[in-house]
Amino acid sequence: MARKKQKKLRKSRRSKSKIKAKKISNIHKEEIKKELKISAIEEGTVIDHIPTDATFKVAEILSLENHKGIVSIATNLQSKRISKKGIVKVGGKSLTQDEVNKIAIVAPDATVNIIKNYVVKEKIKVKTPDVIDNVVKCSNPVCITNNEQVATKFYVTKKDSLKIKCHYCERTMGKEDIEIV
Ligand code: CTP
Ligand code: ZN
Repeated sequence: MARKKQKKLRKSRRSKSKIKAKKISNIHKEEIKKELKISAIEEGTVIDHIPTDATFKVAEILSLENHKGIVSIATNLQSKRISKKGIVKVGGKSLTQDEVNKIAIVAPDATVNIIKNYVVKEKIKVKTPDVIDNVVKCSNPVCITNNEQVATKFYVTKKDSLKIKCHYCERTMGKEDIEIV
């Protein structure tokens, strides 16, 4: 046999036995899967329990495209509390009250976790506000807020499946109409 061929054969045998030797149990596999989902952060904020369709809206609210720290966005994850969830992890950032209020509008069941030195220091359950100032666009094209320099203002008329009413034109909007300013 040519030397090259022999070497190749030896190599393939070795790699085969390696796989055998490193065979891991199903329990370990399960742990690895969980680990790989999305890694822990050292310092910053984790927004958890986001409805899947709002995951990227949360990222948009926080203007993460220019953030210098680690940003991890995952969606369609299995959740115990809601059927499927999204999660946004932002290293080196703490949220303003304004940002938390905005998140509450698109993700009313979200939890905001403040992480310090890998430990969850604070867990904030977001609350849907009664009044929403300058966060949501009015869907009515003739509304003054779409035609003049006027900040939008909505009253929350229903909190469980969100309904909001424009202060200026009185248009009622549901969750599906919501667009962030
Ligand atoms: N987390 C993280 N980095 C850390 C600590 C926590 O990314 N250093 C994340 C976890 O992955 C989790 C969230 O922060 O998504 C909240 O952590 P924890 O309170 O430990 O998890 P749960 O008990 O599952 O939270 P909850 O009760 O809100 O579901
Ligand atoms: Zn309006």
